[in-house]
Amino acid sequence: MARAVLFRLDPERAHDAVLSMLDRPLLQRMVSRHYAAGAPGAPCRLMDIDFPNPIGLAAGLDKNGDHIDALGALGFGSLEIGTVTPRPQPGNEKPRLFRLTSHDALINRMGFNNLGIDHLVSQVEKRTWQGPLGINIGKNASTPLEQAADDYVFGLERAWPVADWITVNISSPNTANLRDLQHGQALQKLLGRLADARATLASRHGRQVPLAVKMAPDMPEDSLDGFCESLVTHGIDALICGNTTNERAAVTGHRHAEETGGLSGTPLRRLANTRLADVAQRLRGSGIVLIGAGGIASGDDAAEKRALGADLVQLYTGLIFRGPALVRDAINKTSGLTSPGPTNPDPTIPS
Ligand SMILES: Cc1cc2nc3c(=O)[nH]c(=O)nc-3n(C[C@H](O)[C@H](O)[C@H](O)COP(=O)(O)O)c2cc1C
Repeated sequence: MARAVLFRLDPERAHDAVLSMLDRPLLQRMVSRHYAAGAPGAPCRLMDIDFPNPIGLAAGLDKNGDHIDALGALGFGSLEIGTVTPRPQPGNEKPRLFRLTSHDALINRMGFNNLGIDHLVSQVEKRTWQGPLGINIGKNASTPLEQAADDYVFGLERAWPVADWITVNISSPNTANLRDLQHGQALQKLLGRLADARATLASRHGRQVPLAVKMAPDMPEDSLDGFCESLVTHGIDALICGNTTNERAAVTGHRHAEETGGLSGTPLRRLANTRLADVAQRLRGSGIVLIGAGGIASGDDAAEKRALGADLVQLYTGLIFRGPALVRDAINKTSGLTSPGPTNPDPTIPS
């Protein structure tokens, strides 16, 4: 019933309405009792972080860290908040989020709308939910690509004291040329700057914070060797595979199919899983933790990502279409599985 009402609203307003509702402590307790209790999941320790279960919320739903307690009440084993940029920015013009209900999919061109990293850090300091929390950082739209590293280093410095891990988002399709940072010299330069900054921050704070990189599922196959090698060379701790896609083949003919932006949800699953298996094969034995995201709409989809080599999984769009029962289902379906670990010996691609 709730879905029928909410799906009559503009998608962005519906997201905001649900999150504001969930901010009420009484509702949080009810939701937590109904959905999170009784789904203990399989705890795992990765990157020196204890995850109560491997099911995480992907970045983008809580860009400002305004709803950490509400989302934590849904039973997730971890939350990733952001993408956040150094300075506040409004993002793209509305409408910028489209529902493709018949496909269980979304297309978004939000453009990193957020209130800036200082706001996010102050929200993290106020949270009561104490599970593993990742902060996803990006660059401001007005920062030239050549100076992107300055924005990422700024984000790293601010997020360091409060984050369990920090994700470097270089794969959003909605910030002009951002994905160029995934390749060649631009990638080397960025990861080199981040490695230097990490060394300084670790000695300043007496604490190491794991660094994840989030990739596009659209990365061409012939770029994967170089990309994975760079992650290893620069001591990156985790790879999130992946972000939304520019591909539209799976939604051809839908009235929103040609909207500019990133496609997420069920039609992304196949591509995301192919890329996941590709990177799992290349990173085998590297010690880099793999986080699988893209198209999880059932517990079986979450288990499939683990079978392909993901140590952890993240979801977003499935939550919009399936509701919080999806989190419980994913926890249950992965709870019989032990973590394949970053050195999973034999990930197989389903036919
Ligand atoms: C509306 C929307 C906004 C998003 N914003 C971000 C973001 O700010 N940063 C990011 O790294 N990923 C963002 N994503 C991508 C998701 O984190 C996730 O990687 C992607 O949607 C694939 O997972 P899914 O099919 O479970 O949604 C966004 C996705 C959606 C649908």
